[in-house]
Amino acid sequence: RRLITGGALAAGGALAGGAAVAATRSGGNGQRPATDMTPAANVGRLVEPFHGARQAGVATEPQAHASFVAFTLRPGTDRAALGRMLRLLTDDAARLTQGRPALADTEAELGLLPARLTVTFGFGPGLYRAAGVDDRRPASVAELPAFRIDRLQPAWSGGDLLLQICADDAITVVHAQRVLIKDSRPFATVRWVQQGFRRSPGVEPDGHTQRNLFGQLDGTANPRPGTPLDTALWVPDGPAWLRDSTTLVVRRISMNLETWDLLGRTDRELAVGRRLDTGAPLTGTAEHDEPDFAATGPDGLTVIPDFSHLTRAHVTEDRLRILRRPYNYDGVPTAEGHADSGLIFTSYQADIARQYLPIQRRLAERDLLNEWTTPIGSAVFAIPPGCQPGGWVGEQVLG
Ligand code: HEM
Repeated sequence: RRLITGGALAAGGALAGGAAVAATRSGGNGQRPATDMTPAANVGRLVEPFHGARQAGVATEPQAHASFVAFTLRPGTDRAALGRMLRLLTDDAARLTQGRPALADTEAELGLLPARLTVTFGFGPGLYRAAGVDDRRPASVAELPAFRIDRLQPAWSGGDLLLQICADDAITVVHAQRVLIKDSRPFATVRWVQQGFRRSPGVEPDGHTQRNLFGQLDGTANPRPGTPLDTALWVPDGPAWLRDSTTLVVRRISMNLETWDLLGRTDRELAVGRRLDTGAPLTGTAEHDEPDFAATGPDGLTVIPDFSHLTRAHVTEDRLRILRRPYNYDGVPTAEGHADSGLIFTSYQADIARQYLPIQRRLAERDLLNEWTTPIGSAVFAIPPGCQPGGWVGEQVLG
């Protein structure tokens, strides 16, 4: 349930009445007639709440466009300076996400259509060091161990502060990015920016799983909103700087479309363990059928290969699951016409060491998909608790 903005937009005459209008996008995975889809005309006005115990942009239904902006703190950006910076950025985010231009917004008109904009703040290990509060760094927020599949480039790795900016409209994202980077300049430099996309709203009925650039349905086994998601995702208790926080792993994973294109359909499906058309496990017929890892075929081999991505990544215990919220990227092709495509793979979990690392270790050790995928960037962040009106993101950590 989201609100259609009524404030600035109504003042601008685009929405009569000034009252916030509720909009709903129901879940479900069945095919529905086109008339049952989100009316595209409303998308620009949809608002995600900014304030709350937990930050938005994590459990939020993924928006179509994302920009991940990682910063390096300037020397001298200490605890007090970080407080000033985060107050400023919180104010920008609180306004822009609700369809109001930022203070002294130089392109105020671009701030009027939030299109479900969320700005999520992430703290890298270096931020805690710079602020002298390393004792408040969640223990698992530390650089990941090296994996043999990694070909990491500094240009896509690390970062002291992350702003994850997501909206259903690319102009909204770019405008928010511009405002937030401008206000960060006295305190930090831009380390890397990764921009990605998913299907646009209205292109498919709500509740459909998005496809990545290999053409696979990506996100099927994600935990659904509800209890198991909550316990795996959010830290339930502890001191104020930890409670209602989560953690984020960002991996830039290049996908080799040139060699993937050489594969037949059967081999593509065996690599993941799911069908390309429906996303069903090779032992089932519908996307959400439980995979049967023990089922064998006439040749005596398991129907879902033991080294398929599905088998290797599978998690059975709810509290050990991760929430994947990946975005596709597609850069400029080479002169020979070879694609620069991949996934900005993001994983949220209460604890990186307990939940993410065991999966990543299994995949790095053996996963058929590794033949066509290469991690080229890696970064970890704590996602601190949210804030209430008048407060600022990070106040529990730095205040
Ligand atoms: C499942 C693709 C990297 C963890 C899947 C599925 C696909 C997929 C198609 C099956 C549908 C679904 O449940 O979403 C990819 C691609 C990757 C990638 C193309 C890289 C470019 C990763 C990484 C991790 C991961 C780095 C974690 C370290 C998972 C998990 C599942 C999954 C936990 C669900 C398994 C289950 O319980 O059924 N992935 N993936 N994936 N993937 Fe990946």
